[in-house]
Amino acid sequence: MSLKDKIENRSALVGILGLGYVGLPLANEFAKAGFRVLGFDLSRGKVDSVNKGTSYIPDVPTADVAAHVKAGRLEATTDFGRLAEVDTVSICVPTPLSKTKDPDMSYVESATQEVVKRLHKDMLVVLESTTYPGTTEELVLPMLEKSGLRCGTDFFLAFSPERVDPGNPKYGVHNTPKVVGGTTPACTDMAAALYSKPIQHVHPVSSTAAAEMVKLLENTFRSVNIGLVNEVAIMCRKLNLDVWEVIQAASTKPFGFMPFYPGPGLGGHCIPIDPLYLSWKLRTLNYKARFIDLAAEVNTAMPDYVVETVARALNDRERSVKGAKILVMGMAYKRDIDDARESPAIDVYRLLEQRGARVCYHDPFIPEIRGDHGEGFRARSVELTDALVATQDCVVITTDHTCFDWARLVGAAKLVVDTRYATGKLGRTIPNVVRI
Ligand SMILES: NC(=O)c1ccc[n+]([C@@H]2O[C@H](COP(=O)([O-])OP(=O)(O)OC[C@H]3O[C@@H](n4cnc5c(N)ncnc54)[C@H](O)[C@@H]3O)[C@@H](O)[C@H]2O)c1
Repeated sequence: MSLKDKIENRSALVGILGLGYVGLPLANEFAKAGFRVLGFDLSRGKVDSVNKGTSYIPDVPTADVAAHVKAGRLEATTDFGRLAEVDTVSICVPTPLSKTKDPDMSYVESATQEVVKRLHKDMLVVLESTTYPGTTEELVLPMLEKSGLRCGTDFFLAFSPERVDPGNPKYGVHNTPKVVGGTTPACTDMAAALYSKPIQHVHPVSSTAAAEMVKLLENTFRSVNIGLVNEVAIMCRKLNLDVWEVIQAASTKPFGFMPFYPGPGLGGHCIPIDPLYLSWKLRTLNYKARFIDLAAEVNTAMPDYVVETVARALNDRERSVKGAKILVMGMAYKRDIDDARESPAIDVYRLLEQRGARVCYHDPFIPEIRGDHGEGFRARSVELTDALVATQDCVVITTDHTCFDWARLVGAAKLVVDTRYATGKLGRTIPNVVRI
């Protein structure tokens, strides 16, 4: 039976390589669409968890994983030899930056190596990891063709960027349109056929590089607009204006304006990193991506700006940062998720500590931070009580988790620095609240 037929009648065995924030939700969606899914990961813990029917990704309900495993539609393994069994493989491994802020392609390379060893006729390989334009064709394709098989005839290759937005209650894998671009038209068709089963709308583009660029445009768009609005917040401070009032009013324009909001800086695995993949690629072509560099400069300076705001607010109350007790509310990089990667809250915490403050944090989603968050930074979430809040010289709101009771917090605190407009519903001006 041809791969197309196996996809159409859903008998194709779908492989997912990398079962993280991207891979597990995708595996879940394919299993929901009636496919059998075999997930691969280096992490024994993740593999065991899937096979026990337990989810470790908040957006994927454990009930789903348990039902798929029980029905024999989902299995995970650390045995890459079993890639020989799959008809399709979607590669969802990390694409971080190296210490010098260049793309670290080692995960994509080692994942592709595992695929090459088991590449077989009619197999579809899809790269999902966010990366610079040209990766699929310049890096992955030559590796795969070393097998002796030819792309477009013997096997199929495509790039399809993942758009998962962790914690988004409205848009998940199923109802977020998916862009696919193949190495050849046959590759695009095959990838589109596969993804159109679990996903409502698939949008084909003319090449893998176009699909790679789509993702980088989306994330650069966010980074640049967040950089712009962060700078507008600084300007509003200098002009003695309330940036939140200005954004709310501008948002009443029904066309030509899209609101972005200031904050303590960028976080997560995507927005702070992905645009740098694009600027790196352009540097190799002797072109400087100025908007990307400027946005990165403004956004990475935001934790310092927050600390300055705290220092000024304490100073107004005749207190110094040195020796002050400061509670940082929220370590996750955005609300209602358990991900602290690249979180600006960590920078705020560390900068305050460097200035001699006695800092603690509370985040029910992140009970502990350790190890890989910059030179061994370690901290544990403290229990949130009115008594604790009352002893703090300042509470800094860095993440606006919806479970937080802002009225209660503001009621118990001496001083609150709010970087997220979390206290907005309590009134435009509140005596003990300072906003960025
Ligand atoms: N997290 C997001 O919101 C998001 C959104 C869109 C795109 N992306 C992109 O998707 C990719 C994956 O991101 P993520 O957030 O899922 O990362 P993650 O760290 O949560 O998951 C990656 C998984 O891959 C596994 N892994 C690493 N090397 C492997 C290998 N050689 N073989 C098999 N498994 C391996 C890791 O153990 C981990 O479980 C990245 O390129 C990222 O930029 C992420």
